[in-house]
Amino acid sequence: MKRTAFILAISALVSCGAETVTGEQTQIDFNRGWKFSICEGTAILETPTTVFVEEDGLEVPYGCALPLPEDGPSILAQSKGPADSQELAEKDFDDSAWRVVDLPHDWAVEGDFNRFNPATTNGGALPGGVGWYRKTFVASNSLEGKNVYLNFDGVYMNSTVWVNGQEVGTRPYGYISFSYDITPYLIYGKENTIAVRVDNSDQPNSRWYSGCGIFRKVTLRVADCIHVANWGVFARCIKENELAVSTTLVNGSNDQPETIEVLSELLDDNGVVVSYAKSVAGSDFTCEQTLPLHDPNIWSLTSPYLYKLKTTILVDGKPVDICSNNVGIRTIEFNPDKGFFLNAEHVKLNGVCLHHDLGALGSAVNRSALKRQLTIMKEMGVNSVRCSHNPPSLELLDLCDEMGILVMDEAFDMWRQRKTERDYARFFEQWHERDLTDLVVRDRNHPCIIMWSIGNEVLEQWSNASADTLSIEQANFILNFGHSADQLTKEKEMSVNSLLTAKLADIVRELDPTRPVTSGCNEPDPGNHLFRSGALDIIGYNYHDQYFMGVPKNFPGKPFLVSESVSSLMTRGYYAMPSDVKKICPPTWSATHTDPSFACSAYDNYHVPWGSTNEETLTLVEHNDFIGGQYLWTGFDYIGEPIPYSWPARSSYFGIVDLAGFPKDVYYMYQSVWRKDIDVLHVFPHWNWNEGDIVDVWTYYNNADCVELFVNGISAGMRRKVSYDEVETGKIPSIPMLDMSTEYHCCWRIPYSPGEIRAVSYKDGNIVAEKTIRTAGAPASLKLTVDRTEIMADGYEMAFVSVEVLDKDGNLCPYADNDIKFNVKGPGKIAGVDNGSPITLERFKADHRKAFHGKCLVIVQNIGKAGTVHVEASSDGLEGQCEFSVINQ
Ligand code: GAL
Repeated sequence: MKRTAFILAISALVSCGAETVTGEQTQIDFNRGWKFSICEGTAILETPTTVFVEEDGLEVPYGCALPLPEDGPSILAQSKGPADSQELAEKDFDDSAWRVVDLPHDWAVEGDFNRFNPATTNGGALPGGVGWYRKTFVASNSLEGKNVYLNFDGVYMNSTVWVNGQEVGTRPYGYISFSYDITPYLIYGKENTIAVRVDNSDQPNSRWYSGCGIFRKVTLRVADCIHVANWGVFARCIKENELAVSTTLVNGSNDQPETIEVLSELLDDNGVVVSYAKSVAGSDFTCEQTLPLHDPNIWSLTSPYLYKLKTTILVDGKPVDICSNNVGIRTIEFNPDKGFFLNAEHVKLNGVCLHHDLGALGSAVNRSALKRQLTIMKEMGVNSVRCSHNPPSLELLDLCDEMGILVMDEAFDMWRQRKTERDYARFFEQWHERDLTDLVVRDRNHPCIIMWSIGNEVLEQWSNASADTLSIEQANFILNFGHSADQLTKEKEMSVNSLLTAKLADIVRELDPTRPVTSGCNEPDPGNHLFRSGALDIIGYNYHDQYFMGVPKNFPGKPFLVSESVSSLMTRGYYAMPSDVKKICPPTWSATHTDPSFACSAYDNYHVPWGSTNEETLTLVEHNDFIGGQYLWTGFDYIGEPIPYSWPARSSYFGIVDLAGFPKDVYYMYQSVWRKDIDVLHVFPHWNWNEGDIVDVWTYYNNADCVELFVNGISAGMRRKVSYDEVETGKIPSIPMLDMSTEYHCCWRIPYSPGEIRAVSYKDGNIVAEKTIRTAGAPASLKLTVDRTEIMADGYEMAFVSVEVLDKDGNLCPYADNDIKFNVKGPGKIAGVDNGSPITLERFKADHRKAFHGKCLVIVQNIGKAGTVHVEASSDGLEGQCEFSVINQ
């Protein structure tokens, strides 16, 4: 770790220094060379501590049901940073002892896990506190007369910004983007200092890991007096073959020029102007235009064609400001009976919910890490993402535009009523209009967005529902266990909660009349105050499968989708048999689930009480046209919310893919259903058991009639899946082929003997695919696989290197937990390490990592120079390596 920190410091130093900002520049990447310090008193641990207790004669790590030991918090070390005071904002404050960091930055992910960190295990058990960032730059004289904006994509949370010691603004919501006009505070021809105070000390304030710091990008924008407002262009297709464009301008001076014109040009992907409009701006500094479209290229899932809308402002004929926005031409429709249509073609929404963290990178946004996540999702067949439960990064939206992935853009996890003690609810009253407005205005040009969600499971669904006195675990359980009728709204009543729903939906519709509004609701009754408002265009249920079929009757004429589904629990590589025995963890809201394994079975047989297995919900969604689709909880594991466990569990079990990006088995079930374009055959579990164990072998497959399993060359029989018609009619033939089969998998229950299992799928008697799993011997080598051969020398891009512990014949060792040491040579540095275990307390920022079920990951970031990066891995005589290129742009 020390070495990594050292390399980080050196690379940041190289890029540091008071850069000069001139009047010739327009958009400036303002992320390099910030000074950073955490303040004194912030809880940061020196060593992680696991507390063991005796339970049923076993020494088990401390579970969630037990009270905190009285001396608990005292084991937290205190940070040695400066005292938190406004002096830190002063222009001349001496920050020479502070660390140099590049943004985006998350200080929490650099820390150690500890159950006494105020975020709690639900928040990821990582440190919080107050952090300060400072940056110095020279404002050249040529900036005089210009307007300078400082734009933040996201700062978690409670940020306050000063320029040269003068406060310019404050913003509580950690996920919102905001901009400050810093022109009045600048000193020209001299050094200027920006200071940002980030306060994430008031915790718990989130039900999941939030991260701490300036975790999204910062840009500086220089503009002439008359310019396009921040997010000031809104383009949308209202009529076929017509692009409506609204432009909002700002006059940063008192002068009134003769004529201000707006030239809007639509450029195709070769940069050729295919349509344009030029008009004089109104006296209110807005401009409405219509650009004709002739046989436009359509944005779709398979061909996400993007035009560029270039906006030029002309003052007295002279161009003074230029900006551009991506535009995708597409139509959307939600139909109550038939679901969702994109460009008049039916699309079932095969969606996933995603939290914003990037595993070992924490919440510091990185485009290549997000691209990897979305690529893994798309490979699985995912076509939509729900940004749960907050405004996403711009990088995510840009990538979804480029990759053809649909988005549900969500604003809030809570409104007035809080879910954790110190959450956004305390700011809602003052800030909700501003935050919701800024979200919609920022995002409404993205073709990927198909709907807005104004909230997730907000407590305003009920009257007087309150989680104030509950722990987060209790709140989750209780809220999902239903409410008495007197908590619901009465027929025709317009309660305060319904009025608030209508107000929020109106804010959105006013700013964007082109997309519907929904909300993730876990109260399925029509008396839910949100439903009763009549303001939701789409009914969105979180869970509650048993109520789906009642939706057409209860909400006539309303489109419906499952805004959140399943919440199954799985640990990659861990299998609890018999596989057809389901486990609900924990069984009731007041019970806790303790198991020394701290694992959940990767057969689809564990789920939370309010959820379902993956198969149960999939069949409902697949076979009912009125269900527009579902958003699985979750595509990836995320830090925090380790239901059904607590410490030392500190990240979720819900992901279809683990925190390090390794798919769990059920990934292939979705792939087999959602990706008919490829032949899928997946066999599991591994083949390293004790002689005589009875093992359930599952296969997920598609494009075939049946699968045959061979154990050491001898057929264990053919199996096929049960068809939906057979399930529906109840006419399931009693034949060996269907023994233990479901609509989505086949299973063989067989005694283990070492050797191999081989699955072969057939279509019309011909082999479609084959897969073999062999009993692995002792670890003999490390196999490193890098996800891309080339990355850009931009200081941001990363390569993801997967490490597998293999035996001498190349078989994955399913129990291997070797501690693997990494050495990076060339223009790269380690940005993080992980293995997908939800319970390991190893740091994410380190130069080594234990394998978990035979695998781990090292993330390597370029340091802004071209060359070849060699990654070497070693562990107890095992070795492996790989390389990739870093190229200049
Ligand atoms: C839902 C909630 C999610 C997550 C999930 C876990 O009720 O919306 O944020 O907490 O439960 O199952």
